[in-house]
Amino acid sequence: MIGSILFSWLHSSDFYSNFHKEACGFIPEAENINDMWIDIGCGPGVLSRAAQSRGYNVIGLDYDQRMVSAAKNFTLDKKQQNIEYKQFDLFNPTFNVSKANVVSASSLLPVMKNRKESLRLLFEYVADGGKLIIIETNYDCYFKNVFKLFIKNPKISELGLILLGWVRRGRSPSIEEVKGYFKNDDLKQFTLSNGIIDIFIVTKDKIEKEN
Ligand SMILES: C[S@@+](CC[C@H](N)C(=O)[O-])C[C@H]1O[C@@H](n2cnc3c(N)ncnc32)[C@H](O)[C@@H]1O
Repeated sequence: MIGSILFSWLHSSDFYSNFHKEACGFIPEAENINDMWIDIGCGPGVLSRAAQSRGYNVIGLDYDQRMVSAAKNFTLDKKQQNIEYKQFDLFNPTFNVSKANVVSASSLLPVMKNRKESLRLLFEYVADGGKLIIIETNYDCYFKNVFKLFIKNPKISELGLILLGWVRRGRSPSIEEVKGYFKNDDLKQFTLSNGIIDIFIVTKDKIEKEN
């Protein structure tokens, strides 16, 4: 309950939605009307909405029904099309999800107990030649750096930033694991928001990875 309220608040801040939009800009726009993007651990859907604006048909998946409902409320407000949200557990899927041109996960890895297995499962949903995009705060996301961003745009809605800096406190255990797991793949890394957000984009070969 508290999680969905706090995340809905964070999702309405300019800062939070802007860096997700910027991150989506690293993914080519959809080429075909049927191109799919799956956002796993979508929360209230900030990244799903940004993905939709790149022309994809988007499915936001989250195992918490309250997050799914919060995402649906945002979507109703903004009258978005080609986007749906469903309850779905990455570790215990209750229905089949087809492979997608793009799979995304934002701030998902820090809440996962088994991050290696999470990365494997996320990558499994990427179609051959498709892309996995992972968005995470990095070691520089701590109160001092986040406060510098806040004072550039000191609005009540942006207070979510302070929360983010406090929650993360410079701890981002997933970054090295992402690099380690995909070391043999086509992995690109970008940094956003004064260096506190890392974006990883892995392109899947035509040949499936074995491990
Ligand atoms: C920290 S929140 C991030 C939400 C959103 N992606 C964002 O960037 O704000 C992590 C989300 O992952 C979801 N989640 C955690 N474990 C999951 C699992 N096994 N399958 C699907 N979603 C999961 C949680 O319910 C939560 O909404």
